[in-house]
Amino acid sequence: MMDVREWVNQVQLHAGKQGDYIRVQSHPSFLQPIGVGRSAAVFRLEGHPRLALKIFHPLFWKDGREEASAYRQLGSHLAYPRLHEANDGYLLLDYIDGMTFYQCLIEGVPITEEMVAQVDEALSHAETKGLFPSDIHLKNILLTPDQNIIIIDLARFSTPKACSKWSDLKKAYDRYYATGRFPKRVPERVLIWIMNQYRHQGAHFSAPYFSSKS
Ligand SMILES: Nc1ncnc2c1ncn2[C@@H]1O[C@H](COP(=O)(O)OP(=O)(O)O)[C@@H](O)[C@H]1O
Ligand SMILES: [Mg+2]
Repeated sequence: MMDVREWVNQVQLHAGKQGDYIRVQSHPSFLQPIGVGRSAAVFRLEGHPRLALKIFHPLFWKDGREEASAYRQLGSHLAYPRLHEANDGYLLLDYIDGMTFYQCLIEGVPITEEMVAQVDEALSHAETKGLFPSDIHLKNILLTPDQNIIIIDLARFSTPKACSKWSDLKKAYDRYYATGRFPKRVPERVLIWIMNQYRHQGAHFSAPYFSSKS
């Protein structure tokens, strides 16, 4: 039997300003950090290659509870990791071998229409389970080596609030990426700049910056 709580207690996370990424300050050597978000850090566990442990900073335990409840409401579906265990401050999930859409853009791995359709299908499934897909952005979608997409991070799926991130991404996909006007490989600093523009301009974010004429 694994004592996950015991391990979680040995991890120190630091949260900076609101919206900053979490920093892992210290962790036991059998936990290998694999990613951070704005609320949690995710680790692989030595000896358990199929599992990922998502540990929330104490300020975000509420998000952890909401995410656990979203996973339970969702049930099992191929486009989402399975939830194995959840408790105050952590979720034990399937480890997903894959790269985020964000990494795909940086490394020039093509994102196909078929993959976009898979995301749509996964989100519709969540809706049929009474959830509200939300916060679907480039770092919350993973592409596996066998070309399947997996959605991670359901923290906001229980909140009945409209979120336009995915439909905005699809507009950008149709308008720039699919037409070839957008380079298939994008330097990370350019992506960060685009995302900052998006964050500050929200729904008004639009074309001029990327138009080939300007
Ligand atoms: N189940 C998983 N398998 C593999 N990597 C994961 C998994 N869950 C999260 N990650 C990695 O950790 C990062 C942060 O996880 P995420 O759930 O998005 O945290 P947050 O809720 O703080 O945004 C992700 O962008 C991804 O790179
Ligand atoms: Mg995230």
